[in-house]
Amino acid sequence: MLRVPVHKIQPGMFLARPIPMPNDPYRFLLQRDREIPLDLVPRLKQLGILEVWVRHRGLEFLEDIIDENLGEHQREIYIGVRENFENLMRDITAKLDFSYFQSSISNFFSYLKSSSGSNILLQKLDAFDNYLLSHSANISYLALLVGMNLDRYLIDERRFKSAREAKELHLLGLGCLLHDIRKIQVPKAILHKPGHLTNDEMEVIRRHTTYGYEMVKGHIPATAAQIVLNHHQRWDGKGYPSRIDSLSGEELPPLAERQIPIFSRIAMMADIYDAATSERCYNNAKLPVRVLHEMRTTCRGFFDPVIETAFYGTVPPFPIGQVVELSDKSTAAVVDFNTDFPVSPKVQCLRRPNGEVVKNPALEEIDLSLHYDLEIASVDGQDVREWTASQITAELDPMLV
Ligand SMILES: [Fe+2]
Ligand SMILES: [Fe+2]
Repeated sequence: MLRVPVHKIQPGMFLARPIPMPNDPYRFLLQRDREIPLDLVPRLKQLGILEVWVRHRGLEFLEDIIDENLGEHQREIYIGVRENFENLMRDITAKLDFSYFQSSISNFFSYLKSSSGSNILLQKLDAFDNYLLSHSANISYLALLVGMNLDRYLIDERRFKSAREAKELHLLGLGCLLHDIRKIQVPKAILHKPGHLTNDEMEVIRRHTTYGYEMVKGHIPATAAQIVLNHHQRWDGKGYPSRIDSLSGEELPPLAERQIPIFSRIAMMADIYDAATSERCYNNAKLPVRVLHEMRTTCRGFFDPVIETAFYGTVPPFPIGQVVELSDKSTAAVVDFNTDFPVSPKVQCLRRPNGEVVKNPALEEIDLSLHYDLEIASVDGQDVREWTASQITAELDPMLV
């Protein structure tokens, strides 16, 4: 199966995975094996659905790699977040079902630990009809995957825990689910404002950290609540919120480097990535390869270098199932993630440079990390080479990151 952007749907394409209903992800807009009617395309776009999984002969094995249970777990979390957040939108004093959050994220974490797939980002939830809800579920998932790849660093950074407990990540997932909870109260005119925000508007947005923390403090373990407070703290100390000295009442600088709790450092990276790769009312979703390039270049100093390395080994610039155009003008599907050489994945050829369709893509698999004369040139008509260049440098010399 292949990921096909919604605007590239053509007659004769059959679904490999059902398309969930946006406002009720347990029901489906269209079932698997059905041909996608072209008149559904405008509706999909309107609903914030960016891509669909389509059957492709020779690539059936990808259906096993992208485990279907993953989507079900993601949807279960989404539903829980949705019910709670909607109650809160109606009445800000409504009681949140924190035990539901805790149990659904624990189930999800257990599933991820036991799932056979390696811990790489396989599929995000689309924006559905509410960015805040899908964003909360997505950063939880992504942060858990990154955390699971940190291993020894978690034990070092959480020395007050036993080695086994240090790697328990359900509180990371829980804090991420709730990290932006107080954005519910930020006026939409500010939250969705395109372009520059005034200082006052910025201040209103920034308060979602401290106000959100007040909301969850005492209801969830402190480790998770800290994420709500500190997920905008930057490694270089230029984040927010600042702190108040409890004795003198003076403002202290924001936390920096290892003063920032490790779970907040992980959440921070996942937050930035998910926001940039999601469809927003004022921004189109950017390709993962572009966002990863921007994180490595324009976000220098934001992230803990150890977490950064784990992050780039978790989030593929070219997701499995994506169709790419190679520099020799052939078309191929990404079939594996190369953690050491992220922009040079394994691909299978779908169409030769002369346009001829390949009947059996499995016989024409190419590991791009072994072909220095061949690279991914474009995705969906967008030239990606200016974004892969920074990541190739990083591949060759990790000290340059
Ligand atoms: Fe936030
Ligand atoms: Fe966020």
